[in-house]
Amino acid sequence: MMHALNPFMPGAGRKPRELAGREPELEIMDRIIARTKAGYSDRGLICSGLRGVGKTVLLLRMRDMALAQGLMAVRMEATSDARRDYELLLGGLSKAVLRERNKSLRERLLDVLKHVNDVSIELGAFGISLKTADDAPASSDSLQLEMMVEELCRELKKRHSGLLLFIDEFQEMPNDLMGTIIGLQHAMGQDDLPFYVIAAGLPNLPGVLTKSRSYAERLFQYRKIGRLTESQTKECFIDTMKGVSTFEDDALDRLIQLSQGYPYFIQAYGSAAFEASDSSPIPLSAVNRGEATARASIDDGLYESRWQRASQSERTYMRVMAELGKEVCSSSEIADKAGKTTPELSRTRKRLIEAGLAYSPERGLIAFTVPGMGEYIRRISPSEEQAYGSDRADARASRG
Ligand SMILES: Nc1ncnc2c1ncn2[C@@H]1O[C@H](COP(=O)(O)OP(=O)(O)O)[C@@H](O)[C@H]1O
Ligand SMILES: [Mg+2]
Repeated sequence: MMHALNPFMPGAGRKPRELAGREPELEIMDRIIARTKAGYSDRGLICSGLRGVGKTVLLLRMRDMALAQGLMAVRMEATSDARRDYELLLGGLSKAVLRERNKSLRERLLDVLKHVNDVSIELGAFGISLKTADDAPASSDSLQLEMMVEELCRELKKRHSGLLLFIDEFQEMPNDLMGTIIGLQHAMGQDDLPFYVIAAGLPNLPGVLTKSRSYAERLFQYRKIGRLTESQTKECFIDTMKGVSTFEDDALDRLIQLSQGYPYFIQAYGSAAFEASDSSPIPLSAVNRGEATARASIDDGLYESRWQRASQSERTYMRVMAELGKEVCSSSEIADKAGKTTPELSRTRKRLIEAGLAYSPERGLIAFTVPGMGEYIRRISPSEEQAYGSDRADARASRG
């Protein structure tokens, strides 16, 4: 077998050869593109789900679709640093303008950027703070962003184009900037300008948006991105291998079982089986030989670093969650099992959520954002007492 031909793409954000089961979201994207070209505004799109279900690569695909249709697309990954996020955004917009192929449009857009820049400098020099639609004082940054987006969209609309802003890990974005962006989606819609926010994030994202701006609910379409069904999983394995090799039936069954429909797992187990095989079609024995490698790569990519970054009290909390062994736990049962009261643990709970390790599916409930995190904790049972280095070594040893 030519291992150089391994068609699987294990690892966060790596575009899969076959993007399985996301047809409904891609259709929404087609519609957004069509409406943009026709000069209409519409709702933006929010995709939320656990880690490893394929939000990042879905966003990348949608961005590629928009670019292929000649629309202006800017992509960024939000951080919790407002300064940095503004720079990513403003920088991304400038780059998108420079990438514009059509010379006369590019020149028009560059004029817009220059104009907005001049105005911002003047405003800054006079220390003027304007009132936004929400009546909150606007920082010169948000003002600059608002002007830039609006003016760009006016020019783009004349050319049957529009501006699409792709934001990954949107839940991370500081509230002020998030509010500005939601406000922009709102204002552009009112003026019927072609601007769309297309964002992805953890399952708590819809709630975070509504908390930031109550009207966010009606500005976006919300899609939950989850596991693939069994038949989608099967198709994904088969289609990924198209033109390269095939799996024996029992090998395929085992892969479906191991991956549980999680795209991250599909790529990891598929890849390891491919590497472990020296014949085609790939037999069950190769899947079995690759299993430990796949698990180690999943541990490494999804769990280990998150566990290591957690504090002592966060680890204790997560261990209790893991021991309860349910997908969703209530805060009170965790407190009971830990021999504490719910208020005593509320700070730890909050920190776990802020760190993106857990989310609250409903008031009083908590769940891991990473599929299989509980199993991982139970399996390697890392000791809370141990320091970073030895912790890791022990985890490796106990995995055998
Ligand atoms: N629809 C899909 N079909 C097949 N593989 C996918 C799909 N979505 C994601 N993947 C694979 O899953 C892994 C995780 O994808 P990623 O987009 O990083 O997830 P997330 O952003 O939700 O954490 C990558 O290896 C990617 O190639
Ligand atoms: Mg991602």
